[in-house]
Amino acid sequence: MEFLAETEPMLNLNPEQLQQHATPLYVYDLNLLRQTLQFAQQEAGKYNFHVHYALKANANGPILDAMREFGFGADCVSGNEVKAAIENGFAAKDVVFAGVGKSDAEINYALEQEIFCFNCESSHELEVLNELAEKKGTVARIALRINPNVNANTHKYITTGLEENKFGINAWELEAVLDLIQKLKHIQLIGIHFHIGSQITDLTVFKNLCTRVNEFQEWFLARNIMLEHVNVGGGLGVDYYAPEQNLIPDFAAYFGLFNQFLELRPGQQVHFELGRALVAQCGTLVSRVLYIKNGVTTNFAILDAGMTELIRPALYQSYHKIQNLTSQKQEVRYDVVGPICESSDCFGKAVNLPETNRGDLIAIRTAGAYGEVMASGYNLREKAQAIYI
Ligand code: LLP
Repeated sequence: MEFLAETEPMLNLNPEQLQQHATPLYVYDLNLLRQTLQFAQQEAGKYNFHVHYALKANANGPILDAMREFGFGADCVSGNEVKAAIENGFAAKDVVFAGVGKSDAEINYALEQEIFCFNCESSHELEVLNELAEKKGTVARIALRINPNVNANTHKYITTGLEENKFGINAWELEAVLDLIQKLKHIQLIGIHFHIGSQITDLTVFKNLCTRVNEFQEWFLARNIMLEHVNVGGGLGVDYYAPEQNLIPDFAAYFGLFNQFLELRPGQQVHFELGRALVAQCGTLVSRVLYIKNGVTTNFAILDAGMTELIRPALYQSYHKIQNLTSQKQEVRYDVVGPICESSDCFGKAVNLPETNRGDLIAIRTAGAYGEVMASGYNLREKAQAIYI
Protein backbone atom coordinates (compact mmCIF):
# COMPACT_ATOMS: atom_id res chain seq x y z
CA MET A 1 0.00 0.00 0.00
CA GLU A 2 1.86 3.10 -1.20
CA PHE A 3 -0.27 5.39 0.90
CA LEU A 4 0.58 3.67 4.18
CA ALA A 5 4.30 4.10 3.65
CA GLU A 6 3.93 7.86 4.14
CA THR A 7 2.10 7.88 7.47
CA GLU A 8 1.69 4.70 9.41
CA PRO A 9 -1.95 4.61 10.58
CA MET A 10 -2.51 4.48 14.31
CA LEU A 11 -5.38 4.87 16.71
CA ASN A 12 -5.17 7.66 19.22
CA LEU A 13 -6.45 6.45 22.62
CA ASN A 14 -4.79 8.50 25.32
CA PRO A 15 -5.92 7.34 28.79
CA GLU A 16 -5.05 10.69 30.45
CA GLN A 17 -7.23 12.52 27.97
CA LEU A 18 -10.02 9.97 28.33
CA GLN A 19 -9.96 10.11 32.15
CA GLN A 20 -11.66 13.51 31.97
CA HIS A 21 -14.75 12.08 30.35
CA ALA A 22 -17.79 10.34 31.73
CA THR A 23 -18.28 6.79 30.50
CA PRO A 24 -19.59 4.86 28.62
CA LEU A 25 -18.17 6.92 25.80
CA TYR A 26 -17.74 6.48 22.06
CA VAL A 27 -14.39 7.81 20.90
CA TYR A 28 -13.75 8.43 17.21
CA ASP A 29 -10.30 9.04 15.79
CA LEU A 30 -10.91 11.35 12.85
CA ASN A 31 -7.30 11.12 11.66
CA LEU A 32 -7.60 7.40 11.22
CA LEU A 33 -10.97 7.89 9.55
CA ARG A 34 -9.46 10.35 7.08
CA GLN A 35 -6.55 8.06 6.30
CA THR A 36 -9.00 5.23 5.69
CA LEU A 37 -11.22 7.32 3.43
CA GLN A 38 -8.28 8.68 1.48
CA PHE A 39 -6.95 5.21 0.81
CA ALA A 40 -10.39 3.88 -0.16
CA GLN A 41 -10.98 6.76 -2.58
CA GLN A 42 -7.49 6.42 -4.03
CA GLU A 43 -8.01 2.73 -4.78
CA ALA A 44 -11.60 3.11 -6.06
CA GLY A 45 -10.53 6.09 -8.15
CA LYS A 46 -8.00 3.96 -10.05
CA TYR A 47 -10.91 2.28 -11.82
CA ASN A 48 -13.37 5.18 -11.72
CA PHE A 49 -15.50 3.24 -9.19
CA HIS A 50 -18.03 5.25 -7.15
CA VAL A 51 -18.55 4.56 -3.47
CA HIS A 52 -21.71 5.43 -1.59
CA TYR A 53 -21.14 5.30 2.15
CA ALA A 54 -23.72 3.11 3.92
CA LEU A 55 -25.04 5.47 6.59
CA LYS A 56 -26.48 2.59 8.54
CA ALA A 57 -22.99 1.84 9.87
CA ASN A 58 -22.66 5.21 11.57
CA ALA A 59 -24.58 8.40 10.80
CA ASN A 60 -22.91 10.82 13.24
CA GLY A 61 -22.42 14.35 11.87
CA PRO A 62 -18.60 14.48 11.88
CA ILE A 63 -18.44 11.06 10.23
CA LEU A 64 -20.82 12.19 7.49
CA ASP A 65 -18.85 15.43 7.08
CA ALA A 66 -15.70 13.43 6.42
CA MET A 67 -17.49 11.17 3.93
CA ARG A 68 -18.75 14.15 2.00
CA GLU A 69 -15.36 15.90 2.07
CA PHE A 70 -13.74 12.83 0.55
CA GLY A 71 -16.35 12.64 -2.19
CA PHE A 72 -18.43 9.65 -1.08
CA GLY A 73 -22.11 9.44 -1.94
CA ALA A 74 -24.74 8.25 0.55
CA ASP A 75 -26.41 4.84 0.68
CA CYS A 76 -29.55 5.10 2.80
CA VAL A 77 -32.06 2.55 4.07
CA SER A 78 -34.69 4.77 5.68
CA GLY A 79 -36.35 8.12 5.10
CA ASN A 80 -34.46 9.49 8.07
CA GLU A 81 -31.14 8.37 6.61
CA VAL A 82 -32.03 10.10 3.34
CA LYS A 83 -32.90 13.17 5.40
CA ALA A 84 -29.65 12.97 7.39
CA ALA A 85 -27.66 12.78 4.15
CA ILE A 86 -29.48 15.70 2.52
CA GLU A 87 -29.31 17.84 5.66
CA ASN A 88 -25.62 17.09 5.99
CA GLY A 89 -25.07 18.49 2.52
CA PHE A 90 -24.86 15.43 0.29
CA ALA A 91 -26.19 16.31 -3.15
CA ALA A 92 -29.44 14.48 -3.98
CA LYS A 93 -27.73 13.10 -7.09
CA ASP A 94 -25.33 11.25 -4.76
CA VAL A 95 -28.04 9.61 -2.63
CA VAL A 96 -29.43 6.12 -3.14
CA PHE A 97 -32.29 4.63 -1.16
CA ALA A 98 -32.42 0.88 -0.53
CA GLY A 99 -34.38 -1.41 1.79
CA VAL A 100 -37.04 -4.14 1.54
CA GLY A 101 -39.72 -2.15 3.34
CA LYS A 102 -39.81 1.49 2.30
CA SER A 103 -42.93 3.21 3.64
CA ASP A 104 -45.06 5.56 1.50
CA ALA A 105 -43.93 8.55 3.56
CA GLU A 106 -40.28 7.60 3.09
CA ILE A 107 -40.71 7.12 -0.66
CA ASN A 108 -42.56 10.42 -0.99
CA TYR A 109 -39.82 12.27 0.85
CA ALA A 110 -37.11 10.73 -1.35
CA LEU A 111 -39.14 11.52 -4.50
CA GLU A 112 -39.42 15.14 -3.42
CA GLN A 113 -35.66 15.28 -2.93
CA GLU A 114 -35.17 13.81 -6.42
CA ILE A 115 -32.54 11.37 -5.21
CA PHE A 116 -30.33 9.53 -7.67
CA CYS A 117 -31.85 6.07 -7.40
CA PHE A 118 -34.22 3.76 -5.54
CA ASN A 119 -32.89 0.22 -5.13
CA CYS A 120 -36.08 -1.84 -5.44
CA GLU A 121 -36.59 -5.28 -4.04
CA SER A 122 -39.98 -6.61 -5.24
CA SER A 123 -42.61 -6.15 -7.95
CA HIS A 124 -45.02 -4.96 -5.33
CA GLU A 125 -42.62 -2.20 -4.33
CA LEU A 126 -42.22 -1.21 -8.01
CA GLU A 127 -45.98 -0.83 -8.34
CA VAL A 128 -46.24 1.31 -5.23
CA LEU A 129 -43.26 3.47 -6.22
CA ASN A 130 -44.75 3.95 -9.69
CA GLU A 131 -48.08 4.99 -8.20
CA LEU A 132 -46.50 7.48 -5.78
CA ALA A 133 -44.24 8.92 -8.50
CA GLU A 134 -47.26 9.32 -10.78
CA LYS A 135 -49.11 11.26 -8.08
CA LYS A 136 -46.16 13.62 -7.91
CA GLY A 137 -45.93 13.85 -11.69
CA THR A 138 -42.39 12.53 -11.70
CA VAL A 139 -40.35 9.52 -12.80
CA ALA A 140 -38.28 7.60 -10.27
CA ARG A 141 -34.94 6.15 -11.33
CA ILE A 142 -34.57 2.61 -10.07
CA ALA A 143 -32.07 -0.20 -9.82
CA LEU A 144 -33.32 -3.74 -9.36
CA ARG A 145 -31.83 -5.44 -6.35
CA ILE A 146 -31.19 -8.96 -7.51
CA ASN A 147 -30.66 -11.83 -5.12
CA PRO A 148 -27.72 -13.65 -6.76
CA ASN A 149 -27.78 -16.69 -4.47
CA VAL A 150 -24.11 -16.31 -3.54
CA ASN A 151 -22.98 -17.47 -0.12
CA ALA A 152 -21.10 -14.72 1.73
CA ASN A 153 -19.51 -17.10 4.28
CA THR A 154 -20.37 -14.81 7.14
CA HIS A 155 -22.71 -14.87 10.14
CA LYS A 156 -26.19 -16.00 9.11
CA TYR A 157 -27.81 -12.83 10.48
CA ILE A 158 -25.76 -10.68 8.13
CA THR A 159 -26.03 -12.95 5.08
CA THR A 160 -28.36 -11.36 2.54
CA GLY A 161 -27.67 -12.87 -0.87
CA LEU A 162 -29.15 -16.36 -0.52
CA GLU A 163 -32.57 -17.35 -1.84
CA GLU A 164 -33.76 -18.03 1.69
CA ASN A 165 -33.13 -14.36 2.60
CA LYS A 166 -35.85 -11.75 2.30
CA PHE A 167 -33.70 -9.49 0.13
CA GLY A 168 -33.81 -8.83 -3.57
CA ILE A 169 -35.58 -10.23 -6.60
CA ASN A 170 -34.80 -13.84 -7.44
CA ALA A 171 -33.49 -14.84 -10.86
CA TRP A 172 -36.65 -16.70 -11.82
CA GLU A 173 -38.79 -13.63 -11.10
CA LEU A 174 -36.79 -11.29 -13.35
CA GLU A 175 -38.69 -11.94 -16.57
CA ALA A 176 -42.01 -11.03 -14.97
CA VAL A 177 -40.48 -8.00 -13.26
CA LEU A 178 -39.16 -6.72 -16.58
CA ASP A 179 -42.60 -7.13 -18.17
CA LEU A 180 -44.04 -5.14 -15.32
CA ILE A 181 -41.42 -2.37 -15.60
CA GLN A 182 -42.26 -1.97 -19.27
CA LYS A 183 -45.85 -1.15 -18.26
CA LEU A 184 -44.98 1.26 -15.45
CA LYS A 185 -44.50 4.72 -16.88
CA HIS A 186 -43.24 6.46 -13.75
CA ILE A 187 -40.18 4.39 -13.11
CA GLN A 188 -37.03 4.19 -15.17
CA LEU A 189 -34.66 1.25 -14.90
CA ILE A 190 -31.07 2.49 -14.77
CA GLY A 191 -29.17 -0.27 -13.04
CA ILE A 192 -28.88 -3.49 -11.11
CA HIS A 193 -27.94 -3.84 -7.48
CA PHE A 194 -26.48 -6.63 -5.37
CA HIS A 195 -25.52 -6.91 -1.73
CA ILE A 196 -24.75 -10.35 -0.43
CA GLY A 197 -23.82 -9.71 3.17
CA SER A 198 -21.55 -7.98 5.61
CA GLN A 199 -18.21 -8.63 7.37
CA ILE A 200 -16.96 -10.63 4.41
CA THR A 201 -13.29 -11.48 4.88
CA ASP A 202 -12.90 -14.12 2.20
CA LEU A 203 -12.39 -12.17 -1.02
CA THR A 204 -13.23 -15.18 -3.22
CA VAL A 205 -16.83 -14.51 -2.19
CA PHE A 206 -16.67 -11.25 -4.17
CA LYS A 207 -15.17 -13.10 -7.11
CA ASN A 208 -18.20 -15.42 -7.03
CA LEU A 209 -20.42 -12.35 -6.93
CA CYS A 210 -18.68 -10.94 -10.03
CA THR A 211 -19.34 -14.19 -11.89
CA ARG A 212 -23.04 -13.95 -11.09
CA VAL A 213 -23.19 -10.24 -11.97
CA ASN A 214 -21.61 -11.04 -15.35
CA GLU A 215 -24.28 -13.69 -15.95
CA PHE A 216 -27.05 -11.24 -15.11
CA GLN A 217 -25.49 -8.64 -17.38
CA GLU A 218 -25.64 -11.16 -20.24
CA TRP A 219 -29.27 -11.83 -19.41
CA PHE A 220 -30.16 -8.15 -19.68
CA LEU A 221 -28.10 -7.66 -22.81
CA ALA A 222 -29.89 -10.58 -24.49
CA ARG A 223 -33.05 -8.56 -23.93
CA ASN A 224 -31.48 -5.42 -25.34
CA ILE A 225 -31.44 -3.66 -22.02
CA MET A 226 -28.42 -1.49 -21.41
CA LEU A 227 -27.84 -0.72 -17.75
CA GLU A 228 -26.03 2.49 -16.90
CA HIS A 229 -24.79 1.29 -13.59
CA VAL A 230 -23.97 -1.83 -11.70
CA ASN A 231 -24.05 -1.60 -7.92
CA VAL A 232 -22.23 -4.42 -6.18
CA GLY A 233 -23.13 -3.35 -2.63
CA GLY A 234 -20.81 -3.37 0.35
CA GLY A 235 -19.72 -6.05 2.77
CA LEU A 236 -15.93 -5.78 2.96
CA GLY A 237 -14.95 -7.01 6.42
CA VAL A 238 -12.49 -5.67 8.96
CA ASP A 239 -10.03 -7.32 11.35
CA TYR A 240 -11.70 -7.48 14.77
CA TYR A 241 -8.97 -9.75 16.17
CA ALA A 242 -5.85 -7.75 15.37
CA PRO A 243 -7.02 -4.21 14.70
CA GLU A 244 -3.53 -2.69 15.09
CA GLN A 245 -2.14 -4.81 12.29
CA ASN A 246 -5.01 -3.97 9.97
CA LEU A 247 -6.35 -0.56 10.89
CA ILE A 248 -7.06 0.14 7.23
CA PRO A 249 -8.70 -2.64 5.20
CA ASP A 250 -7.06 -3.81 2.00
CA PHE A 251 -9.04 -1.66 -0.41
CA ALA A 252 -6.39 -2.24 -3.07
CA ALA A 253 -7.14 -5.97 -3.19
CA TYR A 254 -10.89 -5.40 -2.88
CA PHE A 255 -11.36 -2.89 -5.70
CA GLY A 256 -8.65 -4.59 -7.76
CA LEU A 257 -10.64 -7.82 -7.63
CA PHE A 258 -13.78 -6.19 -8.98
CA ASN A 259 -11.73 -4.52 -11.68
CA GLN A 260 -10.30 -7.87 -12.65
CA PHE A 261 -13.46 -9.95 -12.63
CA LEU A 262 -16.39 -7.67 -13.50
CA GLU A 263 -17.16 -7.56 -17.20
CA LEU A 264 -18.41 -4.09 -18.00
CA ARG A 265 -19.97 -2.62 -21.08
CA PRO A 266 -18.77 0.73 -22.43
CA GLY A 267 -20.03 3.64 -20.37
CA GLN A 268 -21.16 1.53 -17.41
CA GLN A 269 -20.45 2.84 -13.94
CA VAL A 270 -19.71 0.61 -10.98
CA HIS A 271 -21.08 1.58 -7.59
CA PHE A 272 -20.19 0.28 -4.14
CA GLU A 273 -21.95 0.70 -0.79
CA LEU A 274 -19.32 0.32 1.89
CA GLY A 275 -20.15 0.88 5.53
CA ARG A 276 -18.14 -1.11 8.04
CA ALA A 277 -14.82 -1.08 6.19
CA LEU A 278 -14.78 2.72 6.24
CA VAL A 279 -15.67 3.41 9.87
CA ALA A 280 -15.26 0.34 12.09
CA GLN A 281 -11.66 0.81 13.17
CA CYS A 282 -11.83 4.52 13.95
CA GLY A 283 -14.41 4.00 16.73
CA THR A 284 -13.83 2.66 20.23
CA LEU A 285 -16.28 2.15 23.04
CA VAL A 286 -14.60 3.30 26.25
CA SER A 287 -15.98 2.14 29.55
CA ARG A 288 -15.04 2.10 33.24
CA VAL A 289 -14.92 -0.96 35.43
CA LEU A 290 -17.62 -0.75 38.08
CA TYR A 291 -16.99 -3.95 40.00
CA ILE A 292 -14.85 -7.03 40.08
CA LYS A 293 -16.67 -10.14 41.13
CA ASN A 294 -14.62 -13.27 41.76
CA GLY A 295 -16.41 -16.53 41.12
CA VAL A 296 -15.31 -20.13 41.62
CA THR A 297 -14.11 -20.61 38.08
CA THR A 298 -14.70 -17.17 36.60
CA ASN A 299 -13.80 -13.62 37.51
CA PHE A 300 -16.22 -11.04 36.23
CA ALA A 301 -15.18 -7.53 35.28
CA ILE A 302 -18.44 -5.60 35.33
CA LEU A 303 -18.37 -2.51 33.09
CA ASP A 304 -20.53 0.58 32.91
CA ALA A 305 -21.08 -0.16 29.21
CA GLY A 306 -23.34 -2.96 28.10
CA MET A 307 -25.28 -4.40 25.20
CA THR A 308 -27.27 -1.16 25.16
CA GLU A 309 -24.15 0.61 23.84
CA LEU A 310 -22.77 -2.22 21.69
CA ILE A 311 -25.10 -5.08 20.86
CA ARG A 312 -22.87 -6.93 18.37
CA PRO A 313 -21.45 -9.51 20.81
CA ALA A 314 -24.92 -10.32 22.17
CA LEU A 315 -26.61 -10.41 18.78
CA TYR A 316 -24.00 -12.02 16.53
CA GLN A 317 -21.64 -13.56 19.11
CA SER A 318 -19.09 -11.25 17.54
CA TYR A 319 -15.59 -10.73 18.86
CA HIS A 320 -14.32 -7.27 19.78
CA LYS A 321 -10.83 -6.82 21.13
CA ILE A 322 -10.90 -5.65 24.75
CA GLN A 323 -8.03 -3.72 26.33
CA ASN A 324 -7.40 -2.29 29.77
CA LEU A 325 -6.00 1.18 29.06
CA THR A 326 -4.90 1.97 32.61
CA SER A 327 -3.48 -1.17 34.22
CA GLN A 328 -0.07 -2.67 33.52
CA LYS A 329 -0.26 -5.45 36.09
CA GLN A 330 0.01 -9.20 35.52
CA GLU A 331 -2.64 -10.77 33.39
CA VAL A 332 -5.73 -12.35 34.90
CA ARG A 333 -8.63 -14.00 33.08
CA TYR A 334 -12.03 -12.26 33.14
CA ASP A 335 -15.46 -12.53 31.70
CA VAL A 336 -16.04 -8.92 30.67
CA VAL A 337 -19.73 -8.11 31.11
CA GLY A 338 -22.12 -5.17 31.16
CA PRO A 339 -24.71 -4.09 33.72
CA ILE A 340 -27.81 -5.13 31.77
CA CYS A 341 -30.17 -7.78 33.11
CA GLU A 342 -29.43 -10.34 30.40
CA SER A 343 -26.81 -13.07 30.38
CA SER A 344 -26.12 -12.22 26.74
CA ASP A 345 -24.79 -8.86 28.00
CA CYS A 346 -21.21 -10.08 27.76
CA PHE A 347 -18.42 -8.47 25.72
CA GLY A 348 -16.01 -11.36 26.03
CA LYS A 349 -15.50 -14.61 27.89
CA ALA A 350 -12.17 -15.70 29.37
CA VAL A 351 -10.38 -12.55 28.27
CA ASN A 352 -6.81 -12.08 29.49
CA LEU A 353 -6.39 -8.56 30.84
CA PRO A 354 -3.86 -6.94 33.15
CA GLU A 355 -5.23 -7.25 36.69
CA THR A 356 -8.26 -5.03 36.56
CA ASN A 357 -9.77 -2.83 39.26
CA ARG A 358 -12.71 -0.56 39.81
CA GLY A 359 -12.26 2.66 37.82
CA ASP A 360 -9.93 1.22 35.16
CA LEU A 361 -10.62 2.37 31.62
CA ILE A 362 -11.53 -0.42 29.24
CA ALA A 363 -11.47 -0.04 25.46
CA ILE A 364 -13.72 -2.16 23.29
CA ARG A 365 -12.19 -1.86 19.89
CA THR A 366 -13.45 -1.72 16.32
CA ALA A 367 -16.79 -0.28 17.41
CA GLY A 368 -17.13 2.52 14.86
CA ALA A 369 -19.54 0.56 12.67
CA TYR A 370 -22.88 -0.80 13.89
CA GLY A 371 -22.05 0.33 17.43
CA GLU A 372 -23.62 3.64 18.35
CA VAL A 373 -26.28 3.35 15.63
CA MET A 374 -27.59 0.12 17.17
CA ALA A 375 -27.68 1.48 20.74
CA SER A 376 -30.92 1.07 22.64
CA GLY A 377 -32.52 2.59 25.69
CA TYR A 378 -33.24 -0.80 27.27
CA ASN A 379 -33.34 -0.58 31.08
CA LEU A 380 -33.94 3.15 30.49
CA ARG A 381 -30.25 3.64 29.92
CA GLU A 382 -28.90 7.04 28.91
CA LYS A 383 -27.40 7.35 25.45
CA ALA A 384 -23.59 7.27 25.56
CA GLN A 385 -21.77 10.47 24.59
CA ALA A 386 -19.41 10.62 21.63
CA ILE A 387 -16.15 12.53 21.27
CA TYR A 388 -13.97 13.08 18.22
CA ILE A 389 -10.20 13.29 18.46
N1 LLP B 1 -25.76 -2.11 1.22
C1 LLP B 1 -26.81 -2.78 1.72
C2 LLP B 1 -27.98 -2.99 0.88
C3 LLP B 1 -26.76 -3.29 3.03
O1 LLP B 1 -27.79 -3.97 3.51
C4 LLP B 1 -25.60 -3.07 3.83
C5 LLP B 1 -25.52 -3.57 5.20
C6 LLP B 1 -24.54 -2.34 3.26
C7 LLP B 1 -24.66 -1.88 1.94
C8 LLP B 1 -23.27 -2.03 4.03
O2 LLP B 1 -22.60 -3.19 4.35
P1 LLP B 1 -21.15 -3.14 5.01
O3 LLP B 1 -20.18 -2.59 3.98
O4 LLP B 1 -21.22 -2.29 6.20
O5 LLP B 1 -20.87 -4.56 5.33
N2 LLP B 1 -25.42 -4.87 12.13
C9 LLP B 1 -24.58 -5.83 11.46
C10 LLP B 1 -24.33 -5.47 10.01
C11 LLP B 1 -25.59 -5.31 9.22
C12 LLP B 1 -25.33 -4.94 7.78
C13 LLP B 1 -26.61 -4.59 7.10
N3 LLP B 1 -26.47 -4.21 5.74
C14 LLP B 1 -23.28 -5.98 12.24
O6 LLP B 1 -23.11 -5.31 13.26
O7 LLP B 1 -22.42 -6.78 11.88
